[in-house]
Amino acid sequence: MSLAPAQRRRLIAAARRAAQAAYAPYSKFRVGAAVLTRSGKIHTGCNVENASYGLSNCAERTAVFTAVAGGERKIVAVAVYTPTRKPTLPCGACRQVINEFGPKAVILCACRSGERLETTLDQLLPGAFGRRNLP
Ligand code: THU
Repeated sequence: MSLAPAQRRRLIAAARRAAQAAYAPYSKFRVGAAVLTRSGKIHTGCNVENASYGLSNCAERTAVFTAVAGGERKIVAVAVYTPTRKPTLPCGACRQVINEFGPKAVILCACRSGERLETTLDQLLPGAFGRRNLP
């Protein structure tokens, strides 16, 4: 499914704003994400790091968990904003988490330079493991 240009712009703007709340004192890499759910609502998140580094959470997962905590389980699109020259794609762990609620989601990556990258979750995680693989 492709997104209307206005919706795409709104989602990217929300991801960029969400990056302002990033807690990234260790990596200094401040990321924001925004999830569009089927109801049309936008749910945002940022990366939240921890002194025990491995417990850090990416912006994308924060945004997905926020959507689910808000009662929304159908993800249509995810935007991620990174303070980089080139767009950044979600990490493997976040791809798996997005797959749970949006196996066909559109993934929009935006960055400081204005360059954009658009793909889909099923392109990023072909043959994904999901609930249907469980006995
Ligand atoms: N990070 C994200 O939040 N999303 C990504 O797509 C890539 C990485 C975060 C995790 C960590 O807080 C920091 O960026 C450096 O890896």
